[in-house]
Amino acid sequence: MTLVIRNSTELQEKVAAWKRSGMLVGVVPTMGALHDGHLSLVKTARAQSDRVIVTIFVNPMQFNNTDDLAKYPRHEERDLTLLEAAGVDVLFAPDVTEVYPDGFATTVSVSGVTAPMEGEHRPGHFDGMATVVAKLFGMTQAGSAFFGEKDWQQLQVVKRMVRDLNLPITVVGCPTIREEDGLAMSSRNVRLSAEERALAPELHRILQEVAAKLRAGQAVESALAEARAELAAKGFGAVDYLDFRSGESLAPLEAFAENGRLLVALSLGQVRMIDNIAV
Ligand code: PAF
Repeated sequence: MTLVIRNSTELQEKVAAWKRSGMLVGVVPTMGALHDGHLSLVKTARAQSDRVIVTIFVNPMQFNNTDDLAKYPRHEERDLTLLEAAGVDVLFAPDVTEVYPDGFATTVSVSGVTAPMEGEHRPGHFDGMATVVAKLFGMTQAGSAFFGEKDWQQLQVVKRMVRDLNLPITVVGCPTIREEDGLAMSSRNVRLSAEERALAPELHRILQEVAAKLRAGQAVESALAEARAELAAKGFGAVDYLDFRSGESLAPLEAFAENGRLLVALSLGQVRMIDNIAV
């Protein structure tokens, strides 16, 4: 049975009792509209913890676009059914006023890894994300936290913040879960039309094609330019970025490197898609 808690004091009392009896507590932070990608994070969390908390909070502070916030899918009842079936102990689903009470005045701002890509295209997003994640770590008091590699830059930002602030939590990155046709699972995929949904997996195929070219020694710039042209020809919308970068520092790479990662963000219809793969 999954207990739903909306109040952080109640949550902290529960977690303190678990910890007193020596239990390891894991948290999976989410914004809800759960899919198999989230459930695989829960599975890893369950394998590595004695008790698992999933948080659902659509964090207004990390949306730089009010339309995206308004349209973000919300299905708490359905999510709860999935969490029950997945054996989650607590669903923590606070209201906005519980997370940001009157007088809330703190922003966590990570520099460096936040600058390129999402940082350029979604001003303020990472401040909002880092602030709420720090807040959720404090509210849940968990010992480990599980994040998907699909949001690769987000994962690097969270790891940087935890190191820099000596937060007593271990951050675990978990592989991206894909549909059978290669499309990375995302809560936003439900907003794709049938035609867009049919085209969407081409993104992953094209990323793999670029990776193969880079491994074969093709120059980075020309491999990326060919991919951009192919994406446009297939019918994808504006590409915010398609970059080859160091997986950890996110510095741009000019030639193949072992830890290199291809990262992309583009639009397809009304939906902004992101994806990344190791090269
Ligand atoms: O990845 C997400 O769903 C969100 O950015 C997170 C980590 C739950 C913070 O709101």
